[in-house]
Amino acid sequence: TRVVTTYRLSEMKARGERISMLTAYDYTFAGIVDSAGIDIILVGDSASNVIAGHKTTVPFTLDNMIYHGRSVTRAVERALVVVDMPFGTYQGNSKEALASAIRIMKETEADAVKMEGGAEIVEGVERILTAGIPVMGHLGLTPQSINKFGTYAVRATEEDEAEKLVTDALLLEKAGCFAIVLEKIPAALGERVSRALSIPVISIGAGSGCDGQVLVLHDMLGINKEFSPRFLRRYADLHTIITDAITRYNADVKSGDFPNDGEQY
Ligand code: KIV
Ligand code: NA
Repeated sequence: TRVVTTYRLSEMKARGERISMLTAYDYTFAGIVDSAGIDIILVGDSASNVIAGHKTTVPFTLDNMIYHGRSVTRAVERALVVVDMPFGTYQGNSKEALASAIRIMKETEADAVKMEGGAEIVEGVERILTAGIPVMGHLGLTPQSINKFGTYAVRATEEDEAEKLVTDALLLEKAGCFAIVLEKIPAALGERVSRALSIPVISIGAGSGCDGQVLVLHDMLGINKEFSPRFLRRYADLHTIITDAITRYNADVKSGDFPNDGEQY
């Protein structure tokens, strides 16, 4: 286990201490995120979009997640490392869900797995927990269901979807999840769920009333230019910084300025 454990996170919730979480997909970035003191590092299947260039998370495989998970865990000493279970490796079959989770834990040395969905996946969550594998839930805008939603718009703005989300959150807590991510729902609903649960509720676009926040690393660093949802705060403009560095290098190579006398043997 690493320094941050699921037990420590539950203590943070009880004390009202906010929890920080970011994604990472590789060794180098994971080391930076860990050293900066982030509590939870998520090896998100957003790697499908951010790293592999797919339009959705649907095509990403268990082998893909294991490759990224293993790269991240090699760098992380302090943060709790959570690996997303990808689409098609847990839904509708709790034995397959357990087998997938066991592969992730054995082959990546992560600390926990994350799964999207509520009542539909509770049997899978319970079976995974029988093996002693911690599970983080994920409700609201669950990107693996994008083909059902047909839009990346805010979820649970209508009463029936909001009530199902609250019921699902309570079910996941009862099943034994150590925390839940809520994605892109009204802030009032995020706060309501956070108050109703004794496990930590982590928000991405679910408002300031939640127990913690998560963002996709490449989005908050401003490496992506295209993606600008309201919930995203950009802490750097790495797209501009990286483009400038590469442009200057390109010019220096073409002009013969690089390498100079001190940069060769
Ligand atoms: O894959 C991911 O990055 C996620 C976060 C947005 C919560 O699931
Ligand atoms: Na994800």
